[in-house]
Amino acid sequence: MSTNSKTLTFDTSTSRANPTPSPMKRLTVPRIRQQKGKEPLVMLTAYTVRMAQLMDPHCDMLLVGDSLGQVIYGLPHTVAVTMEMMAAHGAAVVRGSYHAAVIVDMPFGSYEASAEQAFVNASRLLKETGAAAVKLEGGKVLAPTVEFLTSRGIPVMAHVGLTPQAVNILGGYGVRGKSPEEAKSIVEDAIAMSDAGAFAMVIEGVLEHIAIEITQKVACPTIGIGASAQCDGQVLVAEDMLGLFDRVPKFVKKFGNMGVSVEDAVRQYAAGVRDRSFPGPEQLYQPA
Ligand code: KIV
Repeated sequence: MSTNSKTLTFDTSTSRANPTPSPMKRLTVPRIRQQKGKEPLVMLTAYTVRMAQLMDPHCDMLLVGDSLGQVIYGLPHTVAVTMEMMAAHGAAVVRGSYHAAVIVDMPFGSYEASAEQAFVNASRLLKETGAAAVKLEGGKVLAPTVEFLTSRGIPVMAHVGLTPQAVNILGGYGVRGKSPEEAKSIVEDAIAMSDAGAFAMVIEGVLEHIAIEITQKVACPTIGIGASAQCDGQVLVAEDMLGLFDRVPKFVKKFGNMGVSVEDAVRQYAAGVRDRSFPGPEQLYQPA
């Protein structure tokens, strides 16, 4: 680098993307664990800095879910999501939040081969993002991996029931646990994950009685999605609950109408450009 070059500095206090926060204490994994059986935990997915900023004051946890494959990248499912995607979006969400604990999904193929593979990739995600914990999908088979990670300083959120990364085995996203055998197996998965040291677990897309049984039997908080209001918390994909998409799964309640708002604003902008009412005098620079 030339010795004549000036040092480039950024004034972050005036940055739209990352204004200086008022001091706040971020929720920790032990605090979340202690919420078992108490006030329900609030979790939403977040993938970008601005959405993280907007949701952070209202959420206990922000999940950088691998659902970003579908929501952000337009992929058909989560199987193609990469470590690079999770690391980049995880870091953005940590930069945009000051209060919620940030959990990053481990993408398909980054943890199943061995506990050692899981440690290498989970530690990379925590280092590159600053997140508090990782989440991985699976049951009994992965319990030794969860024990390996948690005993080496990596908090793990489990994910049982409908596990979208297994879409090629499952053949779709239908509700799980319809047969008594499958229901029993899901409960066993949940107990194995909790016993292995998971600090919390997502229960997705199961018959309600299964979610209730798991919530009663496991030591860690359960976070439901298409599960039961009796879980210790709830999660939804933010873009689903904000109403960005027309088609959403049965378990989603639309709390907003973002798709219509975006379309409406874009329609007005397009009309303003076409009839030359935009830009108007307020948006233009003139000599002083
Ligand atoms: O990837 C994701 O968004 C998730 C939630 C739906 C729980 O795993």
